[in-house]
Amino acid sequence: MEHLDTPDAPATAAHPPAAAGRGHATPPSAAQAAELLALARSGGLRTWQLGGRELIPVVQGGMGVGVSAGSLAGTVAGLGGVGTVSSVDLRRLHPDLMAQTGHLDKEPDAKALIDAANLLALDREIQRARGIAQGRGLVAVNVMKALSAYEAYVRQALQSGADAVVVGAGLPLDLPEIAKDHPKTALIPILSDARGVQLVVRKWEKKGRLPDAIVIEHPRLAGGHLGAAKVADLQDTRFDFENVLPQVMEFFKTAGLEGQIPLIVAGGVSSRDDILRWQGLGASAVQMGTAFAVTTECDAALAFKRVLAEARPEDIVEFISVAGLPARAVRTPWLDKYIRIEPKLQAVAHPKTKCNMSFDCLAHCGLRDGVVGIGQFCIDQQLGHAMEGDTQKGLFFRGAGTLPFGSEIRPVQDLLKWMVAGVRPPALVQEPAPSVQHP
Ligand SMILES: Cc1cc2nc3c(=O)[nH]c(=O)nc-3n(C[C@H](O)[C@H](O)[C@H](O)COP(=O)(O)O)c2cc1C
Ligand code: SF4
Repeated sequence: MEHLDTPDAPATAAHPPAAAGRGHATPPSAAQAAELLALARSGGLRTWQLGGRELIPVVQGGMGVGVSAGSLAGTVAGLGGVGTVSSVDLRRLHPDLMAQTGHLDKEPDAKALIDAANLLALDREIQRARGIAQGRGLVAVNVMKALSAYEAYVRQALQSGADAVVVGAGLPLDLPEIAKDHPKTALIPILSDARGVQLVVRKWEKKGRLPDAIVIEHPRLAGGHLGAAKVADLQDTRFDFENVLPQVMEFFKTAGLEGQIPLIVAGGVSSRDDILRWQGLGASAVQMGTAFAVTTECDAALAFKRVLAEARPEDIVEFISVAGLPARAVRTPWLDKYIRIEPKLQAVAHPKTKCNMSFDCLAHCGLRDGVVGIGQFCIDQQLGHAMEGDTQKGLFFRGAGTLPFGSEIRPVQDLLKWMVAGVRPPALVQEPAPSVQHP
């Protein structure tokens, strides 16, 4: 794992220093953030406003488990973008919380203790991100609707001072009620087509709140869980930004909402030209995942980053996750084996008396509930292995696109400069690293 060699957010009893070996995060300076904003403006990109702040048009998407936590999100925010902490199972980044809960198994209060540890870890990561960001940009928290602790994570994010709550993997129709006492926190659903946008906006309008922005994530391109019903649907052209953006703009026009809800496109974005193109069709910003996962400041292990950075197009596969959604990842040894034996596992799928990790991360889980036709593995366990850099056992989510710097692992600052100004950083002088072997 990488070395944490810089000052952390202030440590207190409630906020001890984060786990050793986390993504290295040199707190960015106000001058660096100002430079990026100026470069974006002078280069013909539109900056955008959210939460009363002017932002560069790049959002770092939430990445669980433990891939985008305080270091990455804080660095992106500190440079004037939106940095997103992924809320799920963050205790894994905190050795003291793992010491308290990692061994829990059949204890009747195991779930309650693990959930509490995760909420504490989320608070720590938000404070860490805020400490690094120093009031610049926005610190968002991503919560998957499919999680059993969805509402608890949203409430914790609101209470801990997140600037925005971003919800995907399900329709967050109840988010306005949960956040009703937090009118200043931006609420952002992640959707994939114009029909979904229309549905959420109409339902939220009735509750007296509009989304503060909407992420439109392309299931054919993005990493992780994908917003389509089945793998065969991923290629559907209704998800293409060329189709979704005009359709959503038209809907906003007829609904009298023109110019009120910024759109953020996610999936396969890798250059300033992409931003120009999608801004030309009405988007305000782009969201990127994989490119941020391979930055120096990303909170996962170096080996995790190498797997993503070194994956070839033919190594990237789609399959059905245990949450019932299609997902995209690198075909590493564990996933290769899983895909091969999936039919056999599905043939014997049956409800289990107990969740694998004792905290029922998902409200509906293919493995625990024995649902034939969807994933039969423990996603929390596999993603945890990946975040720790276990290339044999891990599940490595990745988008389908190419990375701006190929297999290089670069600081966030380099990535953002490339994205807003098209400036390529000087070549890296890197020690040769062992390559990752794919099956
Ligand atoms: C490793 C990884 C983990 C991810 N985890 C989540 C997640 O927990 N929640 C979520 O909403 N999106 C998740 N995503 C999706 C990203 O936030 C982002 O929208 C997507 O990857 C954009 O596509 P790109 O990777 O081509 O830039 C994940 C993506 C990756 C690569
Ligand atoms: S078995 Fe694993 S994936 Fe399923 S609910 Fe439990 S922790 Fe989550």
